[in-house]
Amino acid sequence: MVETIQWTPNGVVMIDQTKLPRETVYVTCRTYQEVAHAIVTMIIRGAPAIGVAAAMGVALGVRAGNDIDTVCKTLAATRPTAVNLFWAIDRMKKLYHSLKGATAGAVADRLEAEAKLIKEEDIEINRAMGRHGAPLVPDGKTVLTHCNAGALATAGYGTALGVIRAAIEAGKKIDVFADETRPFLQGARLTAWELQQDGIATTLITDNMAGYFLRSGRIGCVIVGADRIAANGDVANKVGTYSVAVLAKENGVPFYVAAPISTLDLTLTSGDQIPIEQRAATEVTEVFGVPVAPENIAVQNPAFDVTPNRYVTAIITERGVAKAPFEHSLRTLAGKD
Ligand code: MRU
Repeated sequence: MVETIQWTPNGVVMIDQTKLPRETVYVTCRTYQEVAHAIVTMIIRGAPAIGVAAAMGVALGVRAGNDIDTVCKTLAATRPTAVNLFWAIDRMKKLYHSLKGATAGAVADRLEAEAKLIKEEDIEINRAMGRHGAPLVPDGKTVLTHCNAGALATAGYGTALGVIRAAIEAGKKIDVFADETRPFLQGARLTAWELQQDGIATTLITDNMAGYFLRSGRIGCVIVGADRIAANGDVANKVGTYSVAVLAKENGVPFYVAAPISTLDLTLTSGDQIPIEQRAATEVTEVFGVPVAPENIAVQNPAFDVTPNRYVTAIITERGVAKAPFEHSLRTLAGKD
């Protein structure tokens, strides 16, 4: 399986997700600023993966003698929606402050070990999510997914795609429909690529075909990832997820969200409070640098949308499956009850 991110003696090495699937190129970030740049430019993307990247960025920054607050502020300013980023930075910052009195070298070693641990834990978490989610996947049917919530969006194995992998490993005969996911094409470029690499039968569709197939009876369930989940179970994920969820409910197709506990933001009572990243207009007006719209056209480009909890059949986490009422089930899984 592909290595999304690695700590090496030369720096943090990431597969460049802006170049896939045409080129497999690796980028080495030697400073925390380079890690921040990789997150902003989406060389690395996906909620858990940017959490791991940020943790490694903190470790790089502190080892180079930078002020921890400056390092954390820079990394936190990269992308606003995925809460895993802030979760990882907080974890690193708390550890740093617990190490008062230790030598600079010992602090740097401990932070490096913690960043590596966050990565290893993420893979274990995804496998656990797979074990909890696999029984929900109907055998002999197609699973529809949106964006990329796979190995590339995590430290490995994936959240939504991890559940699909686990269902297949459990012997289920399923295939995948991948929404292309305009405008950044994570579905066409990344999900289609990583599933094909694994030999998982995959069909690429454009986003506006989802309703056609959800109505056809062929789709057994939808499984997506998440960038932030509010206490009431409202889910922020890649823009277009909401439309898929509404279409799924309309057609009686279960809609599952697979996300680690670190994607929960229990400080927010509803999804309306989740900050939504707005990205560059050129992502909409151009395809690979080629203009597809008239010059000076007004453009909106929200990168995420919020799916209200009433469209969510269940949320699959590493600690089990949460169902409505989510206020209660999510708090219980998070150990806050
Ligand atoms: O803008 P991106 O590519 O970072 O958005 C990614 C998503 O929306 C994923 O579905 C989400 O982060 C879950 S990844 C396991």
